[in-house]
Amino acid sequence: MNAEPMTTFPAQRLHRVGVVVKDLRTAARNYAEIFGIDNWAVSELGSDRLSSTTIRGRVVRHSYRTAVGTTPSGVVTFELVEAGPGESTFTIQRCSRGPGVHHLTLAVVDEERAAAVEEFLASRGVPVAQTGLVDGTLRHLDFDTRALLGGYYLRLAVDLDGTHPDGGPPADERWDLSGEYARPAGVEPMEVSQLHHFGVVVNDVVGSVARYADVFGIKSWNFMNWRTEPGRLDNPFYKGAPVNHEYFCGMGFDFREFGFEIIQPTFGPSHYREDFLREVGEGVHHMQLFYPRDADHWQQVADWLAPLGVPVVMGSTLRGGATTFYYLDTREALGGWTIEATLRHAGADPAKRVYDFVSTFD
Ligand SMILES: [Fe+2]
Repeated sequence: MNAEPMTTFPAQRLHRVGVVVKDLRTAARNYAEIFGIDNWAVSELGSDRLSSTTIRGRVVRHSYRTAVGTTPSGVVTFELVEAGPGESTFTIQRCSRGPGVHHLTLAVVDEERAAAVEEFLASRGVPVAQTGLVDGTLRHLDFDTRALLGGYYLRLAVDLDGTHPDGGPPADERWDLSGEYARPAGVEPMEVSQLHHFGVVVNDVVGSVARYADVFGIKSWNFMNWRTEPGRLDNPFYKGAPVNHEYFCGMGFDFREFGFEIIQPTFGPSHYREDFLREVGEGVHHMQLFYPRDADHWQQVADWLAPLGVPVVMGSTLRGGATTFYYLDTREALGGWTIEATLRHAGADPAKRVYDFVSTFD
């Protein structure tokens, strides 16, 4: 059987978001408290289950533990990773830039398809960073797309015997963490009704967007220079004070059930630049996945999370009052990434929803 020529990465859907964390149990508990993800499937991937481990083609030995949990809405599955002994991209990330989004798993394929993906990405200069075989039946290929896409890997799950449709191994253990936290009376976990986009901070948004268009086939990108100015960033703040800053974004929201926002911080202080790009480099800065019902709901959430060490660090009303965005700095609690919350205001004028320009890649 001839495989069809591969012209883009065969992204099916967001199977998993892989996040390197310091301590698996502590992180899972925080996801339980914040999102209501109480149940976790835990796998210990040591030498009894994990074989054929390589880094850039060199044979290595390493181990790691994962905890996999899905938001009650079913929208996002997180694969938390705690690096064990030995050389792995998880340990390298933990040591060089700290916890954070390590990989996105967008495809589960068979061996023939995997070979085509490898060939496709090699043609774009992307090497295989890491491989491993779990239980002899599930191969993982971590492609080093950090330079191409901005600081994270694409993980391809190769289901060798048809028993791993979700791209993960069977669990060794299950955790129910529902009894390990207490929310204040009347406070519900954050409902994730939609993962709207990954916010990826990069050095050069124009270059990045062209690569996303090529690899993922996202043909249309809306560009916007967000700057302190009525109708753009109406009243931006950063760490509790008004700020004069700018950033340049390419928005490719029409991808799968989620999209990408590529962000190049340009002028003035921002969470993108001071706290992320300068500290850890390019990478997944945030996920926009929370829509408070109204201003009172938003205030309740902010008041609940602040004493947990999750401050509101940046935000602004946009486009003359159409929406307000907020970043909740969950980097310590959830592992290196930040929650974007968007409050939609009634009566917003759709005519104000304009961009500086649209780039199309046909
Ligand atoms: Fe965003």
